[in-house]
Amino acid sequence: MTTILGIETSCDETSASVVDDGCTVRSNIVASQIDLHRKYGGVVPEIAARAHIENLDAVVDEALSAARCKPDDIDAIAVTNRPGLVGALLIGVTAAKTLSWTWDKPLVGVDHILAHAHSAAIDLDSPPWPAVGLIVSGGHTSLFRITAPTEIELLGATTDDAAGEAFDKVAAILGLPYPGGPAIERVGKSGNARAVSFPRTMLGAESLDFSFSGIKTAVLYHVHGHGQTSGGLEKQTEGDVADIAASFQQAVVDVLVRKTMLAVAKTGVSAVVLGGGVAANSALREQLESTCRDRRLDFHAARMSYCTDNAAMIAALGYHMFAGGTRDRLDLEAYPTGTFHARAGRVRK
Ligand code: KG4
Ligand code: ZN
Repeated sequence: MTTILGIETSCDETSASVVDDGCTVRSNIVASQIDLHRKYGGVVPEIAARAHIENLDAVVDEALSAARCKPDDIDAIAVTNRPGLVGALLIGVTAAKTLSWTWDKPLVGVDHILAHAHSAAIDLDSPPWPAVGLIVSGGHTSLFRITAPTEIELLGATTDDAAGEAFDKVAAILGLPYPGGPAIERVGKSGNARAVSFPRTMLGAESLDFSFSGIKTAVLYHVHGHGQTSGGLEKQTEGDVADIAASFQQAVVDVLVRKTMLAVAKTGVSAVVLGGGVAANSALREQLESTCRDRRLDFHAARMSYCTDNAAMIAALGYHMFAGGTRDRLDLEAYPTGTFHARAGRVRK
């Protein structure tokens, strides 16, 4: 048995997890900083880094004790080292290096987005690969062709705002709290998803790239008018806001589902996996699942606790990297961009 300690500090969640053989999650402790950032309407990098410093020791201790695990039982330490807020990443990376050195355990640097891509597979009895992976988070919207946990090809990505970023910005326009995704989902439940026809930006019939900045602007104009006169939001009733939230969510889900099906058609695979914070959205989960069912495709969404940021997915992918021979040195760095960044085709090795 191989036991991995995972550490995640790329954004506003401090997390540590102990996972056996990449699939048995013995503990997954997440300390969320949402309350610290809410009054600013988004994540403040400096506050995030400081909170990681304050929380990380206790979170790692709790992950070990919840797993009834001693440092000696750990075979390797996996840590998110890209992409993310560099100040925040550095706290996890420095802690992981320190533990690696003091415990004399190997170190593995893990790409956060590739870990999200693996998150739906963590506790499946048989691996879903090859699959198309739709990964939708606060900073990324990506389509991948995944043939194995560490064999992954970028098919398409956002050219501007990420899906989660669009949820967060539209929530701000509608006067809803941060993080915007859960708030829009909650408020939209009582709204009519057909009330407002927001654009479905496809960027061409064959494109697997995404663009969500246009829909954000469309919501802004819808609320405030083209002259962006102030007081637009005050004129909207609670019912109007619910309709806008539901209609916005439906437009985003439509684009995500259509592009995922296009990726399936282009690659010829017969399975789809869904991960990332926006994968917690029940409209997206349900509509992608029913589309896959209609087309007889296998569908696996990450469990809710593995959608938003968590260290279980870091330890799980870290296991496969470790098993494949990856060993990082103590000069491992933190990077703001990931293995795949920006548009399809640009790859940093
Ligand atoms: O993966 P994640 O926790 O962090 C990043 O790696 O970015 O994703 C956070 C994003 C935020 O933009 C948040 O608004 C969105 O996921 N999110 C949701 C929901 N829950 C979280 N978006 C839509 N519906 C949700 N239920
Ligand atoms: Zn994430």
